[in-house]
Amino acid sequence: MPVRTLLVVDDDSAMRELLASLFEDRGYAVEQAASVDEALEQCREREFDAVLSDIKMPGASGIDLVGRVRELRPATPVVLMTAFGSIDSAVEAMRAGAHDYITKPFEPDAVLLTLERALQHRALAEENRRLRHAVDHTTRLGDLIGASSAMRDLFALIERVAHTRSSVLITGESGTGKEVVARTLHFSGSRRDAPFVPVNCTAIPEGLLESELFGHVRGAFTGAHASRRGLFEQAEGGTLFLDEIGDMPPALQSKLLRVLQDREVRPVGGAQSIPVDVRIIAATHRDLRKAIEDGSFREDLYYRLNVIPIAIPPLRERPEDIAPLARAFVARHSDGEQRDLSDSALRRLATAPWKGNARELENAIERALAFSDATILSAEDLELEPENAGAGPTADRLRRAAGQRLSLRELEDLYIDQVLEETGGNKVQAAKILGIDRKTLYRRAERQARSEPGKEESA
Ligand SMILES: Nc1ncnc2c1ncn2[C@@H]1O[C@H](COP(=O)(O)OP(=O)(O)OP(=O)(O)O)[C@@H](O)[C@H]1O
Ligand SMILES: [Mg+2]
Repeated sequence: MPVRTLLVVDDDSAMRELLASLFEDRGYAVEQAASVDEALEQCREREFDAVLSDIKMPGASGIDLVGRVRELRPATPVVLMTAFGSIDSAVEAMRAGAHDYITKPFEPDAVLLTLERALQHRALAEENRRLRHAVDHTTRLGDLIGASSAMRDLFALIERVAHTRSSVLITGESGTGKEVVARTLHFSGSRRDAPFVPVNCTAIPEGLLESELFGHVRGAFTGAHASRRGLFEQAEGGTLFLDEIGDMPPALQSKLLRVLQDREVRPVGGAQSIPVDVRIIAATHRDLRKAIEDGSFREDLYYRLNVIPIAIPPLRERPEDIAPLARAFVARHSDGEQRDLSDSALRRLATAPWKGNARELENAIERALAFSDATILSAEDLELEPENAGAGPTADRLRRAAGQRLSLRELEDLYIDQVLEETGGNKVQAAKILGIDRKTLYRRAERQARSEPGKEESA
């Protein structure tokens, strides 16, 4: 923890020394001032974490000091020391805007505690201010949201290159937003009225990828009853988004390279090439340089694709983006209801590691919205993670069932029970989590109740 700085203000030097040594023993860095003027001079020079001042002093009083410090250093809490029994001055102190007061004579522990509280309050206020500031300074471009300088730079880059035809290679960990960036690039550029065609290179079997991309002519292979336009042709005038390019089979990498060089595709089994005007945006979570080293990715293709490199940093390296993203995800998943996150929730989110980046954050928010009835989600609402949610009786049944062979239906029923338990029997929420509609869930519950007449239905 950084050293905390404290200014002690009292005209009584013995009292100043006493307080100074008390706090120095606890690791504070303490400065002293014998009058309000002296105190203000020091406050002007630097910002203390807290000010502890006597009220009654010759000249200006501690009450005056509170007002002046608030003007000068609005974030610095001032704690006043009032004489025992003088309720009036205590009231006056609080009215003037003192953070707290202590009555003299005091127990050392009581003073320390009061100051600790003032500092905690300040740290919290500072943190909340920072988080809200990030929200206020959020910028967006299409669906892309960001407040960090990394995201601002990214927005500027997108705006600069959206209108060009140069290939773009987007890299970043899983869930960092590679696909949203690709879409934003397409929809901010002059090709926005032409198609944006995404292809996931891992989702298409190797044998089919070539004909998917370049098309095929009739009879090109068994089953090719008719000729078919490939995705390149479908993206004519627009953008082809080659997702997970790092997983493209080497044979196809060579063919893709040729297409990029010649700007024409040759359908499988075809004799003629077809010119195409397509912008390529590729993305991968893999380290392509490493893939080049171990021979699984073609270096020449890499240079063709990497004309404009866009590297999205992991979310943990741009914590300023967490609050604005979280807010946007709340809006995205609240079905038009006015829901929000509390300060405590924002603070909890700000410190989580987010190994799964924005996608993990989005899932956490979506889950919390589904599990909680609160309009303003608190930190506790966010803690309902599936790992620690399974503590109820159904979880026990599930555990016991682990050693047995269950039918799919039995397993489904158990899982439905568990989700219902977690939502406190709220069928609307449960249906949302299960991804089925409410009526289906009701029918299920009825069927279950019929087959288990003894079991009560949780309404
Ligand atoms: N900056 C952002 N602004 C708004 N939404 C974002 C942002 N970054 C990510 N998201 C959202 O997070 C989710 C994951 O983003 P996306 O699918 O683009 O990630 P990805 O990098 O393609 O992940 P993967 O490597 O796993 O495919 C999406 O719902 C997306 O809308
Ligand atoms: Mg993706």
